Amino acid sequence: MPTNIFIIQINMNIEMAEILFREMHRKDLPILLMISQENMASIILSSWGVELRDEEILRAILGPDAYSEVIEIDDEIVGYFSIDILDGKAFINAIQVKKGHQGEGYGTAMMERIYVLALSSRAKTIDLWVQLTNHSAMKFYRYCGYRTISRQGNNYLMRKDLPNHDAE
Ligand SMILES: CC(C)(COP(=O)(O)OP(=O)(O)OC[C@H]1O[C@@H](n2cnc3c(N)ncnc32)[C@H](O)[C@@H]1OP(=O)(O)O)[C@@H](O)C(=O)NCCC(=O)NCCS
Repeated sequence: MPTNIFIIQINMNIEMAEILFREMHRKDLPILLMISQENMASIILSSWGVELRDEEILRAILGPDAYSEVIEIDDEIVGYFSIDILDGKAFINAIQVKKGHQGEGYGTAMMERIYVLALSSRAKTIDLWVQLTNHSAMKFYRYCGYRTISRQGNNYLMRKDLPNHDAE
């Protein structure tokens, strides 16, 4: 198996399913932009009153410290995430599941994968921003164990704490 393929087993409805992650390639970018635009354009407009620009999505995915993976099922990218892990802190830049595949467990699988990556990098927290009007994402993050820390502008900062290795 190539080294950049990762497998997570999750409980999708009743059956256990294996989800295959792979590192994002530059050739994936048009699909990732399309998924993000379809999901986020109306949320950004309702939260911030501005158009979501491709440049902003690319800045999050391609930042100097960003690491991104996609879930690919039968040659179709159904979701992706992008994270930064710096100075003991992980940050989720983006997490997106393609319309038509939401509610099938892929978001949960990505959050589990992010948790494993953060833990193995000895991060102490995982943070993310969520837009005030993105109620379903907020519900999803709470379901994944994140709590609201503060509000900045039209975003909430949410956080999950990881086990403290220093105490070991
Ligand atoms: C938010 C998102 C990443 C969640 O991924 P997902 O694959 O749809 O979520 P899952 O199937 O793993 O759902 C896990 C749980 O989250 C909650 N949840 C997920 N989507 C939800 C929705 N649209 N409304 C309410 N709750 C939701 C539910 O509690 C669900 O558990 P259940 O199925 O047992 O009820 C995905 O729906 C998405 O990409 N949404 C649009 C983009 C977005 O808002 N991204 C976050 C930007 S900050």
